Amino acid sequence: MTTAILSALPEEQAGLAANLENPSVHVYAGREFYVGRWNGQPVVFVLSRIGKVAAATTAAAVIERFGATRLYFTGVAGGLHPRVKVGDTVVATELLQHDIDASPLFPRHEVPLYGRSRFAADMAGVAQLTLAAQAVTEAGAIDDDVRQRFGLGAAPCVHQGLLVSGDRFVSRASESQALREALPDALAVDMEAAAVAQVCHDHGVPFAAVRHISDRADDSAHVDFPAYLAQVAALQARALISALLDRHAPA
Ligand code: ADE
Repeated sequence: MTTAILSALPEEQAGLAANLENPSVHVYAGREFYVGRWNGQPVVFVLSRIGKVAAATTAAAVIERFGATRLYFTGVAGGLHPRVKVGDTVVATELLQHDIDASPLFPRHEVPLYGRSRFAADMAGVAQLTLAAQAVTEAGAIDDDVRQRFGLGAAPCVHQGLLVSGDRFVSRASESQALREALPDALAVDMEAAAVAQVCHDHGVPFAAVRHISDRADDSAHVDFPAYLAQVAALQARALISALLDRHAPA
């Protein structure tokens, strides 16, 4: 079984490819695929870049060219649900593209000719990500002074539920409010994961996604985002992906 870890941005994998055993780098479709082993298990790391098309292209390539038999998407997202705070982690159990709308031909949010708007995550992957996220949260990967600087609460939570994706960085309170009204159970918003869920559905490959909450998808999202990515999300990503892959290692 080959596990692929996809993330959009370099900070979201925080140099983890350097830890691979027997590493090799393959350039394909304009991306660098880092192939190797983690505690003996075959792994591929790749950065998709931002947006649904970039993520879908990368997912298809890692399955077809690099033989990935299980995909994880990791990185940051904007919190939508009132319970989801900056510093929390969301593990997706379902994924939906919030910007797909072929109405009146198909219901809003339905992916045309799939007969569905929501793609379910692989529950074994959800369980692995949840355990890894809980371990990281309990270990406290982020220093207290950094926590204070970003106003992070003392007890970050790990949530499971709906993650929505679209080709927009949501940086207006009015837009996140509209998303909450249209999709009241949505926990968080990103720009990639639901597209990867659709590709994995097509290929019959198990998929799960985890997102660390970097902002509240409101008027200050664009201000918080770059600093948070560099100073918090990179540490969080390193800890989470390491914990996840360590869990996959042979006993
Ligand atoms: N990823 C992180 N924050 C986001 C936001 N506010 N909108 C979309 N994707 C994001």
